[in-house]
Amino acid sequence: MSNVVGSEGLDILFHKGRTHSAWLDKPVEDDLLKQVYDLAKMGPTSANMCPMRIVFVKSREAKERLKPALDTGNVNKTMKAPVTAIIGMDIHFYEKLPELFPHADAKAWFKDLPENVLEYTALRNSSLQGAYFMLAARSLGLDCGPMSGFNNAKVDEAFFAGTTVKSNFLCNLGYGDASKLHPRSPRLSFAEACKVV
Ligand SMILES: Cc1cc2nc3c(=O)[nH]c(=O)nc-3n(C[C@H](O)[C@H](O)[C@H](O)COP(=O)(O)O)c2cc1C
Repeated sequence: MSNVVGSEGLDILFHKGRTHSAWLDKPVEDDLLKQVYDLAKMGPTSANMCPMRIVFVKSREAKERLKPALDTGNVNKTMKAPVTAIIGMDIHFYEKLPELFPHADAKAWFKDLPENVLEYTALRNSSLQGAYFMLAARSLGLDCGPMSGFNNAKVDEAFFAGTTVKSNFLCNLGYGDASKLHPRSPRLSFAEACKVV
């Protein structure tokens, strides 16, 4: 068995994977969402803290609850997407560390830190997990439409009230209509973005 992903896999994950805004009329089953999460959860986080929490917004009622929080340009694509994942983060992620990092008292490393430090730690790690999530979704045949154009406070009030979870970003999920894609925008070259020192 080769330990290198083949060209078909690289196309799915990177070369042909695009950010989608238009969706085919094809549902996404809950079991597939579970499969995506079960892949994404395997990606690494600091001290294995796994701060990402996800609400999959699927029902009409829940979509209507999300709608007032969306920037105008994100409303149509989100209302039409089969699923919108709210990628959240538990700021008190340390509560799970006795289970997630059992070989050391990792909870003690974090629990007394100021809230802003906990928040940027959760943001860094849940953003990584959100990226693993998108690649996991692509690897299982789904398309993604990530968005930060929304009001975090409104989403938190509507979906995470009374908890220590806050929203990080949103990600529409479904089967994208490739005929509606714009041409791919360029990326920075290795020489522009990287240095080997
Ligand atoms: C964290 C994040 C936030 C984004 N926010 C928005 C958004 O609010 N609205 C939108 O239309 N696109 C949004 N995008 C989409 C990006 O513009 C898009 O992923 C990028 O241009 C690359 O497109 P490509 O994957 O098709 O090459 C966001 C993407 C990411 C990763």
